[in-house]
Amino acid sequence: MKNSSRWMIRLLTRLRDARLVWDVMGSLYNMRIYPLIDGLYQSIAEELTLQKQAQILEAGAGRGYLSLLLADRNPDARFTGIDYSRMQVRRAERYRREKKISNCSFRQNNVLNLPFEEAAFDAAVSVGSIKHWSDPHRGLTELLRVIKPGGCLMIAETDRETPDDELRQFVKRFSIPFVPEGLLFWGLRHVVFGQSLSEDQLADEAGRAGFHSVERRPVNTCPYVMVKAWK
Ligand SMILES: C[S@@+](CC[C@H](N)C(=O)[O-])C[C@H]1O[C@@H](n2cnc3c(N)ncnc32)[C@H](O)[C@@H]1O
Repeated sequence: MKNSSRWMIRLLTRLRDARLVWDVMGSLYNMRIYPLIDGLYQSIAEELTLQKQAQILEAGAGRGYLSLLLADRNPDARFTGIDYSRMQVRRAERYRREKKISNCSFRQNNVLNLPFEEAAFDAAVSVGSIKHWSDPHRGLTELLRVIKPGGCLMIAETDRETPDDELRQFVKRFSIPFVPEGLLFWGLRHVVFGQSLSEDQLADEAGRAGFHSVERRPVNTCPYVMVKAWK
């Protein structure tokens, strides 16, 4: 790869992770992504068995699709979605009000510095966010801190090792108006998936942060990896 391409990928990855970009571009992402990875959210919802009154945290909740899906299915549990983008939090709150869901709230926080007491949550979930954290290790140790002993983390991310042909299928379904498919493929290949984590990396990061019994969960419906781990 040429030096200029490497430089461009580094620049675009910086932009990809910038809070301001999520403020401005979040709605476009939200509009395109949810139908494509709904199967992943459904599998988390099926797997997460929650006690009555359980407290659940979602890190990098975006428009809040997963928290609201879980909140709707578990009316006796309580959900908190955090996101560092103020606009994403507003979008999630608007969506919550539209769906008339009251056991869920959203707030603007950075996962690297959570304003919650130790052991405040029974479980935490996160989808597609860790690759954007400037310090994934710190984000995971923060999640570990706020989960109760015996509680679990379910975390999913775009799979860095997705083969080109699978990614091409995903690009066809993702399609953004006026963006040529070839360009979108290049961006997803090099900037999104290429700068993401593999299943091994995600599992290693969870273990390094102090989670135990790290289990890899197959994701059959989209090119993501997922792990479940325990405190
Ligand atoms: C790819 S979106 C995923 C959103 C949502 N989880 C979903 O399933 O669509 C990544 C989200 O992570 C948020 N994010 C990135 N870095 C963060 C951080 N350090 N703390 C909290 N949220 C963060 C972004 O603002 C964005 O909304």
